[in-house]
Amino acid sequence: PTVIFGVITACLDDQMLDSNNLVTFEGLSNSSSYHTFLLDEEKGRLMVGAKDHIFSFNLLNISKEYTQIPWLAAPSRRDECKWAGKDLSRECSNFIKVLQPFNHTHIYTCGTGAFHPVCGYVEVGRKAEDGVFRLEPHTENGRGKSPYDPRLTAASMLVDGELYAGTSADFMGRDFAIFRTLGKHHPIRTEQHDSRWLNDPRFVGVHLIPESDNPEDDKIYLFFRENAMDGEYAGKATYARIGQLCKNDLGGHRSLVNKWTTFLKARLVCSVPGSNGIDTHFDELQDVFLMSTKDPKSPMVYAVFTTSSNIFKGSAVCMYSMADIRRVFLGPYAHRDGPNYQWVPFQGRHSSPPCDGSWNQL
Ligand SMILES: *[C@@H]1O[C@H](CO)[C@@H](O)[C@H](O)[C@H]1NC(C)=O
Ligand SMILES: *[C@@H]1O[C@H](CO)[C@@H](O)[C@H](O)[C@H]1NC(C)=O
Ligand SMILES: *[C@@H]1O[C@H](CO)[C@@H](O)[C@H](O)[C@H]1NC(C)=O
Repeated sequence: PTVIFGVITACLDDQMLDSNNLVTFEGLSNSSSYHTFLLDEEKGRLMVGAKDHIFSFNLLNISKEYTQIPWLAAPSRRDECKWAGKDLSRECSNFIKVLQPFNHTHIYTCGTGAFHPVCGYVEVGRKAEDGVFRLEPHTENGRGKSPYDPRLTAASMLVDGELYAGTSADFMGRDFAIFRTLGKHHPIRTEQHDSRWLNDPRFVGVHLIPESDNPEDDKIYLFFRENAMDGEYAGKATYARIGQLCKNDLGGHRSLVNKWTTFLKARLVCSVPGSNGIDTHFDELQDVFLMSTKDPKSPMVYAVFTTSSNIFKGSAVCMYSMADIRRVFLGPYAHRDGPNYQWVPFQGRHSSPPCDGSWNQL
């Protein structure tokens, strides 16, 4: 990767807050956790998912003509959440975690629903002038789409009516997986409770990147951080990851039924050489931004990292090209083998799966 800025410090200082050019939204006394964003440049709106509310802001002036949808968890769900030992005001609310464009008139949204995830459709109209912004009365189960626990992150993307989501799917926050739900196919996911697939991950982004001019080849890339596997590193460590899936993946026939058959992951390395010859690694992936280029197959990937170290605290932005990312997924691969079950290079025949359905013979 190319490290762009060695270390970033202070982001929003007092001077900026004092500036006359800064327009602020004071917030609602009964809402907080403004964590989920959806930019709609065509309509000139910014949708924001928060605690018990979805907001729609004017892109030119955030204080002007904003609208809001209150969306509270059902009182019975709040009671259940409280009885389960959760904090009523901090945990047993509906924290919005998913806002994704669904079609020309609707946005798909999900929230934690007081530890009982729930999803629904927000009508936004065809044009900004329509002034439509309301939640459809019909809601559906949000398991595998939004986490239960508001403190956990989720990353999702809706493609062709299907939702790809990296999230936890249980009350305890232990069953982390990458899901595909909604749409016409049977839901599919990563293997449950298998640390080789995912090891206590925290998802930060999902993106579709075409592989060729044929949409059948489209791939879904997931960005997350997770615990390194035993033996991969001496001691406890976090690694940043990029995961890859074929959009076309329907799961296996005999094995891996309703599981991804094309999932691969690689470490996302962001480091700077130190004067003492020891590299400083930035492993705590925080966010990812894809900058489009003339070629839709080759966006530039910008990733924001912080360090895990208690001694050195810092952050960095690393930039990756799709050519480098694709080269890594061509192999060679590592697998666990031998008497000590160590990570060794995989010698068998394997290559990055083509997305043409040949994996379906499994
Ligand atoms: C933004 O909108 C508010 C409320 O309508 C108004 O008071 C303020 O002057 C506007 N600010 C700018 C920079 O246009
Ligand atoms: C939050 O407070 C605003 C006024 O400050 C009110 O309009 C809105 O309905 C309240 N929402 C909920 C969910 O209580
Ligand atoms: C968009 O999806 C919603 C929810 O399924 C549906 O009610 C609406 O008719 C759809 N709109 C269009 C333009 O297809």
